[in-house]
Amino acid sequence: MLTPLTNKTAVISGIGTWVPEKVLTNDDLSKIVDTNDEWITTRTGIRERHIAAPGESCSDMAAKAGAAALRSAGADPAEIDLLVVATVTADHCMPSTACLVQPKLGLVNATCFDISAACSGFVYALDIARQYILTGAARKAMVVGAEKMSAILDWQDRGTCVIFGDGAGAVVLEAGDGASRGIVSTAMGSDGSLANLIRVEAGGSALPASVETVQNRQHFIKMEVNQVFKSAVRGMAEISEKALALAGIASADLKAVVPHQANVRIISAIAEKLAIPMDKVVLNLDRYGNTTAASIPLALEEAVRGGRIQDGDFILLVAFGAGLTWGATVIQWGR
Ligand SMILES: CC(C)(COP(=O)(O)OP(=O)(O)OC[C@H]1O[C@@H](n2cnc3c(N)ncnc32)[C@H](O)[C@@H]1OP(=O)(O)O)[C@@H](O)C(=O)NCCC(=O)NCCS
Repeated sequence: MLTPLTNKTAVISGIGTWVPEKVLTNDDLSKIVDTNDEWITTRTGIRERHIAAPGESCSDMAAKAGAAALRSAGADPAEIDLLVVATVTADHCMPSTACLVQPKLGLVNATCFDISAACSGFVYALDIARQYILTGAARKAMVVGAEKMSAILDWQDRGTCVIFGDGAGAVVLEAGDGASRGIVSTAMGSDGSLANLIRVEAGGSALPASVETVQNRQHFIKMEVNQVFKSAVRGMAEISEKALALAGIASADLKAVVPHQANVRIISAIAEKLAIPMDKVVLNLDRYGNTTAASIPLALEEAVRGGRIQDGDFILLVAFGAGLTWGATVIQWGR
């Protein structure tokens, strides 16, 4: 965690989301692969997910969420100094998706780049933007988590294609004075020795695209699901405890927890470890599935809009993903 150089805080002043129109239910999936609604619902908690239209890109979704966040913040696009897009489903290897979002939103004064931390991407990007704000390098920043997971799913692999969905969520972050609410603490971690647990093997410089990589289905996500499950529970519980300790609050002080929406069983195991009742845990994976970097802002926006999170409330965001990566953020909500 960065020790602030100034008495500034980084405050979330606006939030917006966007999901594609098309909904794919578990029953729809059972017509594509050998699965059924009962298995998916009981093992994951997911009932349906949104799937982008063929011509709809990650940057399109990111821009729509970003536009909603700008409206929510009442911010002028020219005021945004920094745009960080977290994604593992960038429109292209280069340029960055953030550079494609910039003209769509008119962020003419923003420095733009992507970060790759998979399902932890949003909390990682929020931490980066916060540090720009605390050092005075940016006055207003936009952080977006956006994914077109449907583009990298193997629709013949029932172990993975039932889990994910598409969508985007964005926040505007700005400097507040020392008395302001905002991000209280952040804690991040990684373990690259477990990089093989969730991966897309081909298409990068280690294994460039070829006829063989396409035939071998190596451009799709592959995951060692059982090891991921156990690592996710341990990683998210430990990093949450660290962020709470840095914030100087107890789990009982939290009004809400907004976890990465991977699997309801993973989430309830973490809640149990942290002694947090499930009615404080924000869940929307039944309608969106795992949207990777978009999952936390999608759930956060819904909780704020529904009045579950009010000014002054302490909340915890916590995520886990490929890398492996994990991260947690304690926020006192409000400006
Ligand atoms: C994927 C996951 C839901 C599987 O749940 P599980 O209880 O561990 O299930 P198992 O892996 O033990 O599989 C049980 C059986 O269901 C089968 N199965 C797998 N996917 C299936 C599907 N979509 N429909 C029906 N059956 C399926 C398996 O083949 C296995 O069959 P078998 O016993 O005959 O071999 C769970 O491991 C999980 O959520 N892992 C984490 C994945 C994740 O969220 N990753 C992202 C983290 S950021």
